Amino acid sequence: MLRSASARVWMMLPALSLTLVCAMLCVSSSVALCPSRCECSDIEHTVRCASAALFRVPAAIPSDTISLIITGDTIHRVEHSAFNGLQNVTHLNLRNNGIMEIGSHAFSSLHMLRSLILNNNQLVLIHPEAFSVPGSPLQELSLRSSLYNYTSLTDLVTALRWGELTNLLRLDLSDNHLVLLPLGMFSPLPNLQHLHLNNNSLVAVYNSTFSGIEQLLELDLSRNAFRTISDEGLQEFERLGQVRLMLGQNPYVCTCEAQEFANWLNSSKVRVGDADGLYCEYPAALREVSLRVLTAQALGCYGKPHEEITDLSLHTSYVFLGLVLGFVGMVFLFVVYLNRKGIKKWITDIHEACQNVLEGYHYRYEIDSDPRLGRVPNIRQGQPRMDPHLGHIPSDSRITQIPSDVTL
Ligand SMILES: *[C@@H]1O[C@H](CO)[C@@H](O)[C@H](O)[C@H]1NC(C)=O
Ligand SMILES: *[C@@H]1O[C@H](CO)[C@@H](O)[C@H](O)[C@H]1NC(C)=O
Ligand SMILES: *[C@@H]1O[C@H](CO)[C@@H](O)[C@H](O)[C@H]1NC(C)=O
Ligand SMILES: *[C@@H]1O[C@H](CO)[C@@H](O)[C@H](O)[C@H]1NC(C)=O
Ligand SMILES: *[C@@H]1O[C@H](CO)[C@@H](O)[C@H](O)[C@H]1NC(C)=O
Repeated sequence: MLRSASARVWMMLPALSLTLVCAMLCVSSSVALCPSRCECSDIEHTVRCASAALFRVPAAIPSDTISLIITGDTIHRVEHSAFNGLQNVTHLNLRNNGIMEIGSHAFSSLHMLRSLILNNNQLVLIHPEAFSVPGSPLQELSLRSSLYNYTSLTDLVTALRWGELTNLLRLDLSDNHLVLLPLGMFSPLPNLQHLHLNNNSLVAVYNSTFSGIEQLLELDLSRNAFRTISDEGLQEFERLGQVRLMLGQNPYVCTCEAQEFANWLNSSKVRVGDADGLYCEYPAALREVSLRVLTAQALGCYGKPHEEITDLSLHTSYVFLGLVLGFVGMVFLFVVYLNRKGIKKWITDIHEACQNVLEGYHYRYEIDSDPRLGRVPNIRQGQPRMDPHLGHIPSDSRITQIPSDVTL
């Protein structure tokens, strides 16, 4: 019995050690495959490196990863081949990493990439081929609060064109301080359905601002700086047809020029999702009034200004003030003209008086050759400079000024 039992143990030992070694190997290999300071989920094939003090994309990411999330780190540059060997990644989130530069073909090894989130970075430089991925699988690109300045926007426009993102459905450019959209910048995205431009500083929509995106379903332009939408912009919206527009929280100016826009809001077939939430910001009398209920009369059309739109008449009053001043000036000139004889006589008197002083000076100068006398300063201001009795010795400066006065 004992013998056979021990023999059995001896027989089982190799198998036991094998499983032990295997278990150790498996554990060590799975540890090695998850980058340090990251969390890896084998079931969901997700790798998450949140605030892991990383300075670059970690190297040892499991090759079967589907979702890769690296956030809150300090990765200033995403380089070519940063994601090599990750052909199954469909979702890549690089939010809030202080990324400043995206190099050429940075994501091109991610053949399955569908969603790329680059929110909250400071992209200064975007290489023209930054978003080039073979087969252009990308469906979602999010660059919320990510573009550093206008140069980054023009970089992005080039990258969108070169990237041939023909499958892109969703583009988020909100929170970027954008003032101007290069015309036709979305035309390389023929299948775009959702475009988020909210919380920027946009002021106008032009003829071809949204050209080439005929499939658009949702366009968010809320929280911008639109004071009105021009006829050209309204035509552009009409051309987009089936789109659902968001236009709220813009500082709309409700003057007569806004009438077209108000009419359009009331009658357009284009769905404005928040049409009831468009309010006037100016003039003060119409603040918080819904743009939708405004009639031409309320907007101060028909040449009869709205009672309380006083600010508008400010320009008019300046013009009126100018006219009044001009009239006063003309009256003054006319009075001068009427009194021309008296004035002429007065000038002649002064002229003669000055000549007398001058003669007096010459006389004194001849009889008194002491030059120091000429430097006696500060004759009192009130003294008539044309004193014919020579009660004083006029100072140098006084005398030298007289000839120029005389020419008057
Ligand atoms: C990628 O996914 C495919 C299909 O889901 C799978 O067959 C393949 O093994 C995966 N590749 C890696 C490197 O895990
Ligand atoms: C944007 O920022 C970069 C880097 O600071 C600078 O070189 C470029 O001139 C800036 N562009 C504009 C339009 O200000
Ligand atoms: C709008 O964008 C700015 C910066 O781009 C951000 O600070 C602010 O929180 C955003 N506002 C909303 C309501 O999203
Ligand atoms: C807008 O552009 C189209 C071509 O895209 C052109 O036919 C049309 O005349 C333009 N409209 C205006 C008002 O410029
Ligand atoms: C809106 O349009 C309807 C008809 O489509 C019209 O009866 C109504 O007066 C309009 N409202 C305003 C504020 O223009």
